[in-house]
Amino acid sequence: MGWYRDNCRQLPWRRDTALYPVWVSEVMLQQTQVKTVIPYYLKFMETWPDLEDLAAADLETVLKAWEGLGYYARARNFHKAARIVVRNLGGIIPDDYKGFKNLPGVGDYIASAVLSIAAAKPHAVVDGNVKRVLSRLLCVETPVNHSAAHKAYKAIAETFLYEKDPGTYNQALMELGALVCTPKRPDCAACPLAEACCAREKQVTDLFPRRMAK
Ligand code: ADE
Repeated sequence: MGWYRDNCRQLPWRRDTALYPVWVSEVMLQQTQVKTVIPYYLKFMETWPDLEDLAAADLETVLKAWEGLGYYARARNFHKAARIVVRNLGGIIPDDYKGFKNLPGVGDYIASAVLSIAAAKPHAVVDGNVKRVLSRLLCVETPVNHSAAHKAYKAIAETFLYEKDPGTYNQALMELGALVCTPKRPDCAACPLAEACCAREKQVTDLFPRRMAK
């Protein structure tokens, strides 16, 4: 986390850590690269600064704003969820894992990311970056594209979870995977975990994470 404090990117969704803006960002980031998301996020927040604004918008308008991001089910579900929160939950986004995950389109990734970052809830995030970092750090053999991978890596991520600041812990792992522990040519010289890293010690970073032939 010291490394993260000194090296993290100043991304627009890191300025406002309320539930709604973090939710917007994580819905977009789940299947789309940071670089692509930035302009869409800024436009989205300008158009619908609050959950109420989004709930009041036509689905068609929201889908139009999503053009270019792809995976339109994300936008449909998010819009539907915004309406449920406004109409049935008094406009209050649930900040408990079960309640939040009940909303359309909210799976373990979104729930853990949003609630850890915006509500300091102790949930570990597992995305492609996190799996790569952990698989190299510990030489984890579980293929990242196996159906059991999410659960397996989640359990590992939870063992290290910094409960006092889970949002920073999660973002630090994601950032390390994005900036240092990259798929090709990881920059081990710049890595704060290098001394502890199994794959680096054995010089097999290129063999992790494991993948299953499909
Ligand atoms: N990818 C997914 N969530 C992210 C976040 N909060 N910051 C940077 N990259 C991400």
